[in-house]
Amino acid sequence: MAGGNILIRGGTLVLPHHEPFKADIKILDGKVAAIGTSLSRKGVDEVIDATGMYVLPGVVDEHVHMREPGLTYKDDFTHGTSGAAVAGVTTVLEMPNTKPPVESASILRQKAKLLSSKAYVDFGLYGVIHNANVHEFEDIVAEGAVGFKVFLGPTTGNIPPPDDGSLYEALTKSAKLGVPLAFHAENADLVRYFTEKVKASGRDDPAAHEAARPPICEEESINKLILLSKRTGGKVHIVHMAAKEGVELLRAARTKGLNVTGETCPHYLLLNSSDYLKYGTAIKVNPPIRGKEHQEALWRAVLDGTISTLGSDHAPHAEHEKRGNVWECAAGFTGVQTFLPLMIHQALIGKLPIQKIPELMSEAPAKLFRIWPKKGALSVGSDGDVVIIDPNGETIITKEWLRAKYPISPFIGWRLKGAVKYTVLRGMIIAKDYELITDRPKGVWIKPLGKH
Ligand code: NCD
Ligand code: ZN
Repeated sequence: MAGGNILIRGGTLVLPHHEPFKADIKILDGKVAAIGTSLSRKGVDEVIDATGMYVLPGVVDEHVHMREPGLTYKDDFTHGTSGAAVAGVTTVLEMPNTKPPVESASILRQKAKLLSSKAYVDFGLYGVIHNANVHEFEDIVAEGAVGFKVFLGPTTGNIPPPDDGSLYEALTKSAKLGVPLAFHAENADLVRYFTEKVKASGRDDPAAHEAARPPICEEESINKLILLSKRTGGKVHIVHMAAKEGVELLRAARTKGLNVTGETCPHYLLLNSSDYLKYGTAIKVNPPIRGKEHQEALWRAVLDGTISTLGSDHAPHAEHEKRGNVWECAAGFTGVQTFLPLMIHQALIGKLPIQKIPELMSEAPAKLFRIWPKKGALSVGSDGDVVIIDPNGETIITKEWLRAKYPISPFIGWRLKGAVKYTVLRGMIIAKDYELITDRPKGVWIKPLGKH
C-alpha cells in the first residue's frame, strides 16, 4: 500500500478525551512513526508547518451513499471521494443500496474492485441484509464487509425490510461474529400509514414529510431493535437518529450496558422543522428533520455520549429528482464534503469541545466498524491519516465548491468559521485549501481487522 514520509510540525494535536496539546507528528511509509516535540526531519520528504493550526486524525465517515455502481446518474465514487478528500474525510464507509444491492459476497467483491480505481480516499463496504439473503451473512463478512445496513423503513433503493424472524437471525449472527448492523430504524407499516393519511389530507407542503414519518416510526423500530439486541447480544447501531423518543430509548439501553449504539448527522443538529419554510424540499431526508425539541435532545445526546458517532448520510440525487412537490422529491442530499467543516464551525463557536470531533467522527466509528486503530487514530503504528484545520480560516459553501455531479445541499450559502487546510492520506498530501493535489486516486479498500 502506497504511503508517504512527512513531518507535521508545530501544530496543536486534537485527540479524543484530551485537552489539545502541541506536538509534531512524523509519518514514515504511510504510518505514524512518532508523536512528540521537536521531531527531526530525518527520513521525511516533506514538512508541513502547522503553527497555529489544529491537527486531527482523518475523519472516518461511517455513512455515505456514493451511488456506484448502478445509480451513477445521481453521483459517483470519483465525485464522492474527491469531495471527501478535500474536506478532511480520509475513510468512507459506503452503503449497500447501490445497483445491484450488495447482497452477496460476489457483489461485494465486484463493487470493491470497481471502486478501487476511483477512490480518492480509503473506503470500507457494507453489505445489506433483507429477508432473502440472511444465509449470505457469513460469506459477506468473510469477503471483508465492515458491517451490514438494514433498512426497516422505505427509502432510496426500495430494499424490502426484513421480517422479525430474519432480524432475529441476523442479530444472532452479529453476536457470534462481532459484526455491527447499522439500522435505518423507521417502521415501514407506520410510515405507510401516516404517509397515506397526510397525503389524503391534501397536504403537499415540504413540512408534510415530517408529518408523514412521525417520531413513533423511529421509536417503534428502535424499541424492537433494543429488545432483539438484548435477547441475542447482536450489535445494533441506529443510524441517522432524528427523534428525541429514540434518544431516550438509546440512553436507557446504554445505561443497562446493552450492545446498542447510535449515530446522528449534522443536518439533525443544525436544522429543525422551522427550516422547511426556508429551504423547502431541499431538506427532505429520511428520517425527517423534526422540531426544535428533537434537535436539542440530539445535541444533549451527542454531548453526554449517548450518541457515540456522527455520519454524514451523504445521499446525493440528480437535480430532476430533487424537484417537484414533497411527495415526488427524493430524500437525501450531499453531505460528505460539508461534514467536517460544519462540525468544526460548531466547535469554534463553542457548541462542542473540539476534541469531541475526533471522538465522534474518527475514533468511535473506526472502533465500531473494527478498523481502529489502523483508522480513526493518531498513535504510533496507525495509518498516517491527518486533517489540518486553520481555525482562522473561513469556509463558504457554494455550488461551485461542492464536488458533486449535482451540488445540492441546504448548506449552500453558509459561511463557516475554520477551514480544512490539508488532508493527508497515509502520509501523502491529497488536498490543500479544498483543492485536490494528487495526480490519481490513491484510496484503497479497507477490511475490518477484528475476528471473522
Ligand atoms: C438515503 C439514500 O438516498 O440513499 N436517503 C436518505 O434520505 N437518508 C437512504 C437512507 O439512508 O435512508
Ligand atoms: Zn437510512
